Amino acid sequence: MTNDDTPLIAVDGIEKRFGTVEALSGVNLELGDNEVLGLVGDNGAGKSTLIKTLVGIHQPDAGEIRYDGDPVTIENPKAARELGIGTVYQDLALVDELSVASNLFLGRNPIKKIGGLIPVLDEEYMNEEAERILRERLNIHVDPETPVEYLSGGERQAIAIARALVTDPDIVLLDEPTSALSKAAVNEVEELVFTLKENGHSVIIIDHNLEEIFSWTDRIAILFNGRVVDVVDTEEVTRDDIVSMMISGQSVLGDDTDADEQTAGSESATSSSTA
Ligand SMILES: Nc1ncnc2c1ncn2[C@@H]1O[C@H](COP(=O)(O)OP(=O)(O)OP(=O)(O)O)[C@@H](O)[C@H]1O
Ligand SMILES: [Mg+2]
Repeated sequence: MTNDDTPLIAVDGIEKRFGTVEALSGVNLELGDNEVLGLVGDNGAGKSTLIKTLVGIHQPDAGEIRYDGDPVTIENPKAARELGIGTVYQDLALVDELSVASNLFLGRNPIKKIGGLIPVLDEEYMNEEAERILRERLNIHVDPETPVEYLSGGERQAIAIARALVTDPDIVLLDEPTSALSKAAVNEVEELVFTLKENGHSVIIIDHNLEEIFSWTDRIAILFNGRVVDVVDTEEVTRDDIVSMMISGQSVLGDDTDADEQTAGSESATSSSTA
């Protein structure tokens, strides 16, 4: 993990273009140790693109990503996992017919050798490990052999999050984890976010529901047209402040904040809010 003043992950001047669309145009953002950071912005603001850049699905056209202070190139999701970044994508990408345990280990199935020779899937290990991760890390109790199609929305979300936890990441990225969920299931996701924080993870959460953003996050980054308008301490802003920044692309916290110039760490968020 990091010492106190090095952000766990920092992005500096990240740009990403798709043809004529400039999805990210100079994003600066820092995520601290054991912090829950909300990422908000209108449709198309660049939120998912930023997340996908952090997990190596997209390569930035310009800018730098630092992990624990060191510049890194994140070539693919496997490289992101090895660094310590786990993700839950906007569509959960679970396989309905497969069991809870199979979904958790999808693409990295544990193998054992019968008689020291013949490789077979180690289902016993998978089931035990799936049950343990869900119980210990997320406080969710489901049968690891149940096909995920039978689970509730909140439980499915838990399985998707648990899949991100299999590699024991420092950072968990959640892209709209509650968008398709009932109220009861949202409460389960809320528990999950709190549990992640209690267990020492840092979280970036994209969410269009500002009520959830306000009750779950420590800080909020507002994205507008591929730029960070401001990063604010959740306790120091109102919902109107956030909506205004999402719509206008201007910080309401005094400072004439320009994404090109601002550094989006907690220090700048504090200083801009007291300016
Ligand atoms: N693979 C892609 N190819 C072309 N354009 C893309 C691609 N991915 C994203 N874009 C464009 O980049 C911009 C940012 O998209 P992005 O998905 O990051 O927005 P978002 O903030 O996540 O929006 P939403 O809240 O609707 O999920 C949009 O204009 C989108 O059309
Ligand atoms: Mg998105």
